[in-house]
Parts: sequence; structure tokens; C-alpha cells
Amino acid sequence: MQKALLLSALASGLLLASSAHAELNVAGLANTCNNCHGTGGVSAGESMPSIAGLPEGYLKNIMMEWKTGKRPSANMTRLISGYSDEEIAALAAYYSKLPWMPVKQKTDAKLVKLGKKVTEKCAGCHGDTGKSEDADTPSLHGQWSQYLQLEALKYRDDAFNMPNKQMVKAAKKLSDEEIKAVAEFYASQNK
Ligand code: HEC
Ligand code: HEC
Repeated sequence: MQKALLLSALASGLLLASSAHAELNVAGLANTCNNCHGTGGVSAGESMPSIAGLPEGYLKNIMMEWKTGKRPSANMTRLISGYSDEEIAALAAYYSKLPWMPVKQKTDAKLVKLGKKVTEKCAGCHGDTGKSEDADTPSLHGQWSQYLQLEALKYRDDAFNMPNKQMVKAAKKLSDEEIKAVAEFYASQNK
């Protein structure tokens, strides 16, 4: 009996130790992510998004949508299914606490001008420059233009069946040129 108690105490001690270890090692998990997303989660471009400083709620939600198959992604779905819900929550908290670093990039002045006009319709949710104002909305200012364009195209395309219906509705109103233009506009807001 005593031996059994001792063993179970040992086992729960080991469990505690291993969960504490997992919590401590978020930075270690993040190394894998940074292989693609860049040092500190700031991407070197161009179809690869920066993820540092995105809101925690958005990060967690998007990763859980990939994991549960609600949201398609050629790159992230299989990868994220290897992480536990706890690890996903820890990664979301970790990246949200890093600073958002708008990246300087070359943009087309004519498209930026058109994009500024078109994004007036988006400002209710994305602000004037794409700076996130709530937990569910990602920052767009100084994100890579090519990435923003690819994502906007996914929201517009029924084949992707993106779960956020408000964004689907907004994207469906945009022509190909306007999609390019809004991406260039937000990308140019790199302050
Ligand atoms: C093999 C390269 C690769 C690795 C490793 C990787 N990602 Fe990604 N990730 C991508 C690509 C490419 C995209 C662009 C969107 C897509 O393909 O769906 C992306 C998109 C994202 C986004 C969406 C950003 C936004 O603005 O909406 C988040 C969040 C993200 N990844 C988090 C992570 C985390 C956390 C890890 C580590 C557990 C990770 N990624 C590992 C390639 C990678
Ligand atoms: C009703 C609020 C709302 C409106 C209006 C809206 N957005 Fe969004 N947008 C969001 C939310 C919320 C997300 C994140 C959605 C998700 O989780 O899939 C998003 C995501 C995006 C993304 C993807 C960013 C990334 O990092 O993956 C782009 C690009 C974007 N919006 C552009 C626009 C443009 C351009 C317009 C105007 C034509 C617009 N949005 C209008 C709320 C809105």
C-alpha cells in the first residue's frame, strides 16, 4: 500500500514536472515557427507573414481552426495538428507579447492611392491604416503585400470556404485590381 502511494506520488510529481517543462519551453517551440516566420516572428518576406504582435485571440483562433480542419492552409494545417491545445494557447500568448514590427517594402504608388480609397470601406474593422483595434482582428499595417493579397484572394474564393463570413463578404466586393491595391496600401503603412 505504502509503495503504491509512493509510486503514485512519484508519477504525479513527474507529470507536474513535465507540464511545467512544456510551459517553460514555449520559446523552444517557437524556434520551429521562426524557421519559416523569421527571427522573433518577423518575416523576411514575401508570401510569408510576420506573426509577432498579432492579437492573442486571433492567433489562437486561427491555429485552432487549422487544427480542427475548419480553415484550409497548404502549409499550416498538417504542422499545427502536431501541437496540443495547450501548446497552441501558449504559442498564441507568446507571439502576442512580442512587438508588431511593420516591414519596410517597395510598393506601387498608384496602387497605394487606389487602395487608400478602397479601404475606406474596411476602416470600420481595420481602422484607417490596418492597425488592429481588437482581439479578433489581425494587424495589416506593414504586413507583407504579397501575403495580404493571397489571403484576400482566399476569402473571396468559395473553394477555400474561409470561416470568417464577414471577411468573405468584404472580399467578394473587390476586383482583382482592388485586391492588389488594398494589399499595397496596408503594406505601405509601415510606421
Ligand atoms: C514550413 C513553414 C512554416 C512553419 C514551420 C510555420 N508556419 Fe505559420 N505559416 C506559413 C505560411 C506559408 C503561412 C501563410 C498562410 C498559409 O499558407 O496558410 C503561415 C501562416 C501563419 C499564421 C497566419 C498569420 C496571419 O497574419 O494571419 C500564423 C498565426 C502562423 N502561421 C503561426 C505559426 C506558428 C505558431 C508556427 C509554429 C508552431 C508556424 N506558424 C510554423 C508557414 C509556416
Ligand atoms: C466586419 C469587420 C471587417 C471588415 C468590414 C473587413 N475586415 Fe478584413 N478582417 C476582419 C477579421 C475579423 C479578420 C480575421 C478573420 C479570420 O480570422 O479569418 C480579417 C482579416 C483580413 C485579412 C487577412 C489578414 C491576415 O493576416 O491573414 C485581410 C487581408 C483583410 N482582412 C482585408 C480587408 C479589406 C481589404 C477589407 C475591406 C474591403 C476588410 N478586410 C474588411 C474583419 C473585417
